[in-house]
Amino acid sequence: MKQTNGTSRLAIRVMERCDLEDLRQLHNHDGTLAMLTDVQHITEAQQEAWYQAISLSKTSRRYVARLRADDSFVGMMRVDQIDLANRNCFIGCDISYEMRGKGFATEFFSYLLNYYFNNYGLHRVQLVTLSSNSQARRLYHKLGFVEEGISREAIYRDGSWHDLLAMGLLKRDWRKSEDSE
Ligand SMILES: CC(C)(COP(=O)(O)OP(=O)(O)OC[C@H]1O[C@@H](n2cnc3c(N)ncnc32)[C@H](O)[C@@H]1OP(=O)(O)O)[C@@H](O)C(=O)NCCC(=O)NCCS
Repeated sequence: MKQTNGTSRLAIRVMERCDLEDLRQLHNHDGTLAMLTDVQHITEAQQEAWYQAISLSKTSRRYVARLRADDSFVGMMRVDQIDLANRNCFIGCDISYEMRGKGFATEFFSYLLNYYFNNYGLHRVQLVTLSSNSQARRLYHKLGFVEEGISREAIYRDGSWHDLLAMGLLKRDWRKSEDSE
């Protein structure tokens, strides 16, 4: 198999057209949609328009991870609102349902955080997550993210209101969380 960037288990690269089917299935899976701020399913046509736009964007990127062993799709990471003046961005990750709980999100984040902090010059990375998403919160805490604020009842899901939690990671805290591994 062609050697690409990534970790010992994961080949990690920017999204390409050949990933779109896997990405749409991941996005439209009930167990993913329920955790996102926008709960709408996406169609192939909508995805195509989105793909055209994001492929040319200077402020957003999408990355895909596949198993080195057999090229199976593992998941995607989004990087948005890249702000090179203030050296920060928003980040997020969805892992394919069958691949969850195997440490892949930790590995995927570690690879991209290293890249964005140590090569791209970012100072701060931020994200939002439903405060009810305990798996994501544990993952982000483990990576060194700190809870910075709550937008109360910002998300309507399954007939009730959920808080949206803002979390942030500074480059110096990323180094500390790496040292404690
Ligand atoms: C949240 C998500 C990205 C985690 O991905 P993952 O590959 O399963 O995470 P990892 O295996 O790297 O585990 C990271 C940490 O998450 C937590 N975690 C993972 N699976 C968990 C589970 N089933 N129950 C509780 N915590 C869990 C643990 O703290 C784990 O660390 P540990 O095993 O060392 O204690 C994944 O569950 C997912 O894609 N969920 C749906 C979409 C989503 O919520 N995206 C994030 C939106 S903000």
